[in-house]
Amino acid sequence: MKIVTIVGARPQFIKAAAVNRAIQDLNKREKPIQEILVHTGQHYDYLMDRVFFEELKLPKPDYHLGVGSGSHAKQTGLMLERIESVLQKEKPEGVMVYGDTNSTLAGALAATKLNIPVAHVEAGLRSYNRTMPEEINRLVTDHLSTLLFCPTDQGVRNLRKEGIESGEGRIVRKVGDVMYDSILYYAKLAEKESVILRDLDLFPAHTPNSELRTPNYYLATLHRAENTDHPKKLTSILEALDEIGKNTPVILPLHPRTKKMIKVYHLFSDFKNIRFIEPVSYLDMLQLEKKAKAILTDSGGVQKEAYWFRTPCFTLREETEWVETIISGWNVLTGTNGKKIVGEVGRLEKRRKYPKARKIYGDGRASQKIVQILIRHFSQSAESAKSRKARRV
Ligand code: UD1
Ligand code: UDP
Repeated sequence: MKIVTIVGARPQFIKAAAVNRAIQDLNKREKPIQEILVHTGQHYDYLMDRVFFEELKLPKPDYHLGVGSGSHAKQTGLMLERIESVLQKEKPEGVMVYGDTNSTLAGALAATKLNIPVAHVEAGLRSYNRTMPEEINRLVTDHLSTLLFCPTDQGVRNLRKEGIESGEGRIVRKVGDVMYDSILYYAKLAEKESVILRDLDLFPAHTPNSELRTPNYYLATLHRAENTDHPKKLTSILEALDEIGKNTPVILPLHPRTKKMIKVYHLFSDFKNIRFIEPVSYLDMLQLEKKAKAILTDSGGVQKEAYWFRTPCFTLREETEWVETIISGWNVLTGTNGKKIVGEVGRLEKRRKYPKARKIYGDGRASQKIVQILIRHFSQSAESAKSRKARRV
């Protein structure tokens, strides 16, 4: 069975690598799946792109569409046109898309228009904020998909509310989160191989043996358009990080969108207490997340990774699709008001106890479950197509 996987942005390389590993494991014994990897080119800087292929051993893409950056319509339109050509040539049985980026939407739409079934990994998530481009991408992709792989029960419930359920050829399954599979696999490697904490000199200086010292820093990430593209919000968040940084280092690996906007608004020189660094590799990021005192972020993936590492998280947004992390008590929605952010982080210092974290994102075998469902679904479809043909003869 042939499937085309479509990726384009940083978190998709991480998610697709988990499923690709499950496919490769299975292919060692039999070869049930041929995966054709298509990279739209949405992310292209070395530190947003190739570093993940190298570190996660994701195969080189079979097709690189070189779409690059642009407005939503331009970027998505170019992707549609180029993905369509690949699909017409490859004629796969199915197309896999991940998450909620423009690459996800373009993959789902191009495939559906050619009557190729779409499998959506990370289906059913909703922030219920339609001003976010990601929310539109999720809604449309889910409504177009035939196989919907939800990370959580909430995802399945959200879909049901929109009338998307198993039946009439559609499959909706909670399988867990492929990013959890990934972290279980790579966190140990990060512990062994990453030297980022030493490179950034994050161990306190008073004891000589760095292995025995506990690093003391906050980790921040920021890239949502709703934050970066509004000078007031961006300034307010950076002011808060700068205030926190007066006492404890704040490390901020800068997404290129954020870097661009900080330059546009001439803000770099205003925040001396924030350590702006280049985006880091996945292993370095895992290590930074694991050892941080707390994480401040507007990223979807980083909120979950914080939870898995039991690192307290502050989400710099008004809402999140990862509601379970909030219910658990490990994640706090701060919004973008500087005072509120600083206040919430201050409260953390006084906090004595955290609730027990439960396994709400699966058992670390989401990728294997996805692959099994794909095989079962597509072999059944092939069987019924054969018998339909036989009946016609
Ligand atoms: C995209 C996704 C977002 C996801 C994020 C992951 C959409 C609508 N958004 O946001 O859901 O959370 O990826 O990181 O699909 N740029 C570079 N180099 C790069 C990539 C981008 O300089 O390699 C700059 C360009 O100026 C570009 C801007 O970043 O215009 C934004 O990139 P884009 O891919 O459009 O959106 P992201 O903010 O990365
Ligand atoms: N990440 C990384 N290096 C960084 C920042 C993030 O490897 O400098 C990883 C992070 O660990 C997570 C994923 O990228 O696995 C999250 O991607 P991002 O925040 O870009 O997008 P989102 O999850 O919000 O869509």
